[in-house]
Parts: sequence; structure tokens; C-alpha cells
Amino acid sequence: MAERGIRLAPSLLSADFSDLTSAIRKSEAGGADALHLDVMDGHFVPNISFGPALVRAVRRRTRLPLDVHLMIEHPLRFAPAFVDAGGDTLVFHVESADRPEDVIAEIQRLKTRVGVALRPGTPFEMVEPFLGRLDQVLVMSVHPGFSGQRFLPEVLPKLREARSHLGDMRPHADISIDGGITVETARPAAEAGATFFVCGNSVFSGGEVDANLHALRAVATGATG
Ligand code: DX5
Ligand code: ZN
Repeated sequence: MAERGIRLAPSLLSADFSDLTSAIRKSEAGGADALHLDVMDGHFVPNISFGPALVRAVRRRTRLPLDVHLMIEHPLRFAPAFVDAGGDTLVFHVESADRPEDVIAEIQRLKTRVGVALRPGTPFEMVEPFLGRLDQVLVMSVHPGFSGQRFLPEVLPKLREARSHLGDMRPHADISIDGGITVETARPAAEAGATFFVCGNSVFSGGEVDANLHALRAVATGATG
């Protein structure tokens, strides 16, 4: 099988917030394909992280695509602020919107790529009606809210469903896996169909960013190459 263009997106939630510039530079030097920014509002998830101001600050420091993961209520209301701040892809949770189709339409109206995320317990059927319009499906492999949690292997069938449904309809859409990705878990995730790997602790919490990214890429690419 031809290599399907594995992509790695370090999650800045696991980086040192007092020195994000360094985390960004190291990610670039290590060959990161995008940066993942976890927005949490204390309502949709039991944690608060940051909002558009930080996305804007990161935007000023890099040309890497910014993958903005909205773990918030009212994604429709806040989408314009995150586009204005410089997000390239806005990923919102299907569970957070009464009418996901309206959020998708709004993000596309703002000329921005759109993704939909699913909590570990949310069935794939929830996103099926929207697949034809999506640039990314994000399968969460931990309960959203915190970095450094253990990968939940029970979500692997959802990656297989995403691959089989998106494969023909949206061949360029990213199938993203987020939570607990390490050199051990990246392989089964890649084999199940993930193409876009969000990685927090495994990149920033030990060792060198550059070496960590290379190790993750080798494992993920090896599983699909
Ligand atoms: C969790 C976030 C993840 C998190 C990943 O709610 O969506 O992006 O930062 O961190 P790790 O890779 O450490 O699980
Ligand atoms: Zn995330």
C-alpha cells in the first residue's frame, strides 16, 4: 500500500506555556506538519486552557498550519474569533452543537477547513451525515480535557469506520487521532486508519522534541508504508 502521508501535530497543551516560542521552534525543526491547539471552556470539558488570544500569539510565531480543537459549548458563536485569530482548521465536537451542519456551514463561509471531533463514547454514526463536507474527522482516544492520559484502544474500530467511509468520498480528509499517542499506540492507530497524529506528552514531556517526533513518525509511517 502506498504511504498515505502521515502527519504529526504536536499539542501545545503539553508544552511550557512560559516558553511557547521554543516549543514552536523545536516542533518546526523536528518536522511537525501542524500545531494542535486545545481550547477548553470549563463547561464542555472539566478544564480551562486558552482562547483566541493565544491562538493569535502562536500565529505570529509560525507558518505551520494551526489545528484548533474546540472543546467548548457554542462553537457556532466562537468560530469567527478563532478564524480571525489565525486558525487554519477548526475542529468542533459533534456533541457540542444542536445543529452541527450550521457550524460546518459557518466555518466554511469563513473560508476555513472544518473538522468534527468525537468523544471516546460517541458512535461514528453521529458524524456520518456530515462526512461529505468535512476536511477532518478527529477520533478522541482519551476523555477530552487533559493531556497525559492513557490511550483507549476501544476507539480503534471508529478509526476503521472513518477510513472506510471517508476513503472514497473525501480521500484528502484527515483522519485524526488525539490522546495518549506514543510510540506504542501510534502503530495500532495507523494500522486502523489514522493519518493525522496529535501528540502532546510524547513530544514535550521527556527527551528531545526532535527525536520524539522522528520516533513517532517512524512508527506511524512503518505501519502504513
Ligand atoms: C485532550 C486534548 C489533547 C491532548 C493530547 O483533551 O484534546 O489534544 O493535548 O495530549 P496527549 O498526547 O498527552 O494525550
Ligand atoms: Zn486536542
